[in-house]
Amino acid sequence: MSRRTVILGAPGAGKGTQAQRVCESLGMEHLSTGDLLRSAVKAGTPAGTEAKGFMDAGKLVPDEVVFGVLFERLETGNVAGSYMLDGFPRNRAQAEELDRRLAARSEALDQVVEVNVPDERIVGRITGRRICKGCGRNYHVEFVPPTKEGVCDDCDGELYRRADDEEAVVIDRLAVYHEQTAPLIEYYSGRGLLVTVDGDQPVDAVTGAVLGALSGNVAESN
Ligand code: AP5
Repeated sequence: MSRRTVILGAPGAGKGTQAQRVCESLGMEHLSTGDLLRSAVKAGTPAGTEAKGFMDAGKLVPDEVVFGVLFERLETGNVAGSYMLDGFPRNRAQAEELDRRLAARSEALDQVVEVNVPDERIVGRITGRRICKGCGRNYHVEFVPPTKEGVCDDCDGELYRRADDEEAVVIDRLAVYHEQTAPLIEYYSGRGLLVTVDGDQPVDAVTGAVLGALSGNVAESN
C-alpha cells in the first residue's frame, strides 16, 4: 500500500538522517527539498540561481521556486508508491499547496512525524555535520564520526561542511523554523496526522521510534 509521509523538525533535528534510514528500511522514497535545491544550485538551473542567496542566508526559498523543483519530481518524476517528504512543507502556504496537489490526484497525506530536539542541541549538531561529496552520506564529527577523519566510509569521498552550517546562519535558520514551520505541528496535529518522537537520543533509538510511529506502535505521540 502506498504511503505518503512528511518528516518535520528543526534544522539539525535529524530529519535527513532518519528519513534516509527509514526509507531504506521500508522501501520508501526519500524526497528532500533541501537536497533538490542544492542539486539545482550545483547544476546552475534558473531555480538554483534564484534559490542560492536565500539558502546561503538561512532564509526560506520563495514558495514558487520550491513548488517547481518538488512537484516536478513528485508529479512527473516517476515517484510511485510510498515516500517521505523531508524539509517540505515549511510554512502554511506550502502545506495547503501540498494538500491541493494531492487532492487533485485523489490522494492525501497519511502521516507526519515530528522529530523533536531542544534548541540548545541544534547548533552543536549542525556545526559538527559533515557530508560526503561523493555519495551524500551524512556524518557528525562527534556523534556519527567516519572511521577515517574527513573520508567517507562508504565511497572514500571527501567530507565537506555545508555553506549554511556556519553558527550565525544556523541561528537564523532556527528562528525561521520557529516562526514559519513550527506552526505546522498544530496544523497536522489538529488533523490527527501528527506523531512526535524524541529526537534527543542516539540515532538508532530515534530510528526505532520513527519506525514505531509509522507502524502505529507509538511510544510518544501528540
Ligand atoms: P534543508 O536541507 O531542508 O535543511 P534543514 O531543514 O535546515 O535541515 P538540515 O538538513 O540542516 O538538518 P536535518 O534535520 O536533516 O539533520 P541531519 O539529519 O542532517 O534546507 C536547507 C535550506 O534550503 C533552507 O534553509 C532553505 O533555504 C531551503 N529550503 C529547503 N526546503 C525548503 C522549503 N520547503 N521551502 C523553502 N526553502 C527551503 O542531522 C544533523 C547533524 O546531526 C548530522 O551531522 C547528523 O549526523 C547528526 N545527528 C543526526 N541525528 C543525531 C542524533 N540522534 N544524535 C546525534 N547526532 C545526530
